[in-house]
Amino acid sequence: MRYEVKNYEILFGLPGFSDDLFKDHFVLYQGYVSNTNKLKDQLTVYRNEGMTNSSEYAEIKRRFGWEYNGMRLHELYFENLASNSSIISAGSELGKKIDEVFGSFENWQKDLEATAAMRGIGWVVFCRDNNTGDIFNVWVNEHDVGHLVGTTPLLVVDLFEHAYLRDYRIKKADYINSFLRVINWVEVEKRYNK
Ligand SMILES: [Fe+2]
Repeated sequence: MRYEVKNYEILFGLPGFSDDLFKDHFVLYQGYVSNTNKLKDQLTVYRNEGMTNSSEYAEIKRRFGWEYNGMRLHELYFENLASNSSIISAGSELGKKIDEVFGSFENWQKDLEATAAMRGIGWVVFCRDNNTGDIFNVWVNEHDVGHLVGTTPLLVVDLFEHAYLRDYRIKKADYINSFLRVINWVEVEKRYNK
């Protein structure tokens, strides 16, 4: 199968984010989709030609996870943004779980902010352990280091500089503040209830 570029122009006009920032971000995302397809094709060629013991095959294998995760994380990120559903539903199952694990929604948000404020480039992934139901805010370095096996991503925050530098310069905390105001909780709760 081939991975298709999804259109996220619905995000134009999102409070706190310029259209130009999104335009650049969409181009970067499209690169991950196209490279995922390209690497898949290359791996097929190497397999068909019996060249799977080559160092090139190994490098493409390693690279594949990075490009694929770059694609999927961007899709999850764009899809968990919206201007009109920025408050978690009162009494929702996810809200109850957050209270149980973190003590309160405010505590969960503080933990998310602290994780997002970490130095370096990567992602914060708020995720659910599918085995135990536990929930975590996890730091993912680049796209591929730090994911917890067997978890479902519920909310994803892009913390590469391209996600905010254009609008916020180096004020990452201001970007995170704006992000918190445009979380698509309907989508996040849908992921949780799936
Ligand atoms: Fe990004």
